[in-house]
Amino acid sequence: MKKLINRIKTDGRVVSDGVLKVDSFLNHQVDPQLTAEMGKAFASYFGNRKITKVLTLESSGIPPAFTAAMELGVPMVFAKKQKPMTMKEDVWVERVFSFTKQIENEIHIGKAFLAASDRVLIIDDFLAHGEAALGLASIVKQAGAEVVGIGIVIEKAFQEGGEKLRNAGFDVLSLARIKSLTNQQVRFIDEE
Ligand code: G4P
Repeated sequence: MKKLINRIKTDGRVVSDGVLKVDSFLNHQVDPQLTAEMGKAFASYFGNRKITKVLTLESSGIPPAFTAAMELGVPMVFAKKQKPMTMKEDVWVERVFSFTKQIENEIHIGKAFLAASDRVLIIDDFLAHGEAALGLASIVKQAGAEVVGIGIVIEKAFQEGGEKLRNAGFDVLSLARIKSLTNQQVRFIDEE
């Protein structure tokens, strides 16, 4: 997505060889117009798959998942990292390890919001090691539902998440694919 790539070029900051800071439009402040275009791009690619639900993980996955769900005309569900006290027994739980943050999160989805008949599009902001997407896909499978695609805003293609998901048979669309972050410079795959 050209607009997203341009925005990363102007506003993204390379924090280290492995981490890109995009707080001004994706991870802290959110750009609604750009996020709406992300939703359109996901809906245009995955739109013919009879999707019934868009699934993401709080917090930064929520805006792009919301605009994709809006375009597709289906509900959006976000997995919660803390089990709310209003969620009793009927909850799917999966452990997700974050290599970037070096912490393990438990993610929770109320069973009422994922049915065996659901055709699910998973959306997330970053794809690094693929753990978040695999954790969400595992819950979809436990529910007897089907993952029909995975949409990612920024894929760090130099880490193994994309390969892991594609090798597992998932159709992954990433709106921006980063080849490297070395020498304080963002290099994109599609621009090679
Ligand atoms: P994975 O899910 O692909 O395995 O990725 P990983 O565990 O390594 O990433 C965990 C968290 O770190 C995620 O946020 C992800 O969005 C974020 N992250 C990974 N790489 C980058 C990066 O280069 N830049 C930025 N800004 N974030 C990155 P999270 O814990 O779910 O936090 P949030 O959604 O509440 O913001």
